[in-house]
Amino acid sequence: MGFKQAKILSVSSVVPDNVLTNHDLEKMVDTSDEWITKRTGIKQRHIAPKEMKDPLIEYGSKAVVQALEKAGVKPDEVDTIVCGTISPDYFFPSTACSIATKVGCNRPFAFDYTSACSGFIYGLILANSFIVSGQSKTVVVVGGEILSRCVDWEDRGTCIIFADGVGAAVLQGSDDPNKGILATDANTDGSFKDILYLTAWEEKNTIVMKGKEVFKHAISLMANTTRTSLEKCGLTVDDVDLFIPHQANVRIINAVASNLKIPMEKLVSNVDRFGNTSSASIPIAMDEAWQEGRIKEGSVVALTALGGGITIGSAIVRF
Ligand SMILES: CC(C)(COP(=O)(O)OP(=O)(O)OC[C@H]1O[C@@H](n2cnc3c(N)ncnc32)[C@H](O)[C@@H]1OP(=O)(O)O)[C@@H](O)C(=O)NCCC(=O)NCCS
Repeated sequence: MGFKQAKILSVSSVVPDNVLTNHDLEKMVDTSDEWITKRTGIKQRHIAPKEMKDPLIEYGSKAVVQALEKAGVKPDEVDTIVCGTISPDYFFPSTACSIATKVGCNRPFAFDYTSACSGFIYGLILANSFIVSGQSKTVVVVGGEILSRCVDWEDRGTCIIFADGVGAAVLQGSDDPNKGILATDANTDGSFKDILYLTAWEEKNTIVMKGKEVFKHAISLMANTTRTSLEKCGLTVDDVDLFIPHQANVRIINAVASNLKIPMEKLVSNVDRFGNTSSASIPIAMDEAWQEGRIKEGSVVALTALGGGITIGSAIVRF
């Protein structure tokens, strides 16, 4: 039997134990807790130990094991695993390949892809397409980053924002046509390449960001893609029970919610404790919201992100 759409069975997330506060950063670069809090809303972030080997594969495997347990799915039932990351431990083999073997999947279709902070949403779109087409039955989507290894720790404009973490979701076909991924929207614009990027082969390869430029575009683009996804499934902003935008920065998060007229009580924001974990930020926030009982049977959840590329995406999910 074919499926109209995929549903999210579970989400799980893992962050390093090690916490780096704004006060710690005050000792590393010319900044202050007050400046960081006011401009970004971030108070602390989790950072992998410098000496740790293969942190993305390690944390990612933990997140996948937890997500599979929550879903009641055995590793050998997973036929597809995709990982959105811009900070892999290796260019190849892919993170997805290594995680799959580490958690005991049986030779799944597995690969990584690059869509920066939109990584989790792009992964949901892939999973949904694979399940609807019949290519896959059980898909694990991983969004994970070890951005602490990609920032210039002397650049106060970026090192205060980016952080480490991994999230994973398990998806299967939805038996109920009213539940699951109801609609998605995604697009990219390479003309914005220079506002946010990470080189591969320069002498120094660290994240470069024109913060003001990113800020300017992020709000309207995230709000617009969310509206498009809502229109595609015939819903309106009033139907949204919970809004989980990419946790870039609290000013962007609040401005997107305000642009969409989504009330604060429907907004999930945890950037104050995790910083910007790029492709992991949505599953980390979703995991917390689910555990807190904010996602229930029937909840309509809107997700949206913008990342380097630029990449833009959104998804409307009914649980
Ligand atoms: C990065 C960001 C916080 C900077 O805030 P801003 O208000 O745009 O600040 P600017 O970059 O214009 O810098 C203003 C001043 O603060 C300084 N500054 C920058 N980082 C600082 C820091 N960590 N601490 C103290 N001062 C800092 C700048 O040097 C500049 O000083 P100057 O006026 O003497 O030149 C903001 O642009 C932003 O949040 N952008 C979006 C970033 C984002 O979300 N990226 C991820 C998208 S996926």
